[in-house]
Amino acid sequence: MAEDLHLIEGDKKVIYEHLIPQIKALLEGEQDIIANMGNICAALKEQFKWLWVGFYIVKDGELVLGPFQGPVACTRIKKGKGVCGTTWQEEKTIIVPNVEEFPGHIACSSLSVSEIVIPVFNGKEVIAVLDVDSEIEGHFDEIDQQFLEEIVSFLKF
Ligand code: SME
Repeated sequence: MAEDLHLIEGDKKVIYEHLIPQIKALLEGEQDIIANMGNICAALKEQFKWLWVGFYIVKDGELVLGPFQGPVACTRIKKGKGVCGTTWQEEKTIIVPNVEEFPGHIACSSLSVSEIVIPVFNGKEVIAVLDVDSEIEGHFDEIDQQFLEEIVSFLKF
């Protein structure tokens, strides 16, 4: 397929519905998880212009920085620490409207104000998380949760 994304503006739900088939097409026929994580980050960053989009991957009992788009970030996060480590521990999506109000939030960038973290499952096991950061307070909601959970479900192991 052509590797150019078709981007649109407008309602968030409509944007996701337009982007998701393109992400599916990008992942089609490619088995390598790192390549697919990379293209998911790039597609989301290009469409939504969020501050930071990236995966942390479970390796040897901690989360290690994987493919991402945005400013440099911390490389390792322990289970139960920060929003990412808590998502891993609780095995469910966490939406943080204001990071200053999340005890133990790990500030990789001082510009980050709100955040959503989605667990990535291989069967019943969390094997990675998708982390998205924004400079805007309260930027993420259930619509983002619904579509981002769908997008990470496309990853095959
Ligand atoms: N804020 C995250 C750390 C990762 S960076 O935002 C890229 C956390 O609290 O887990």
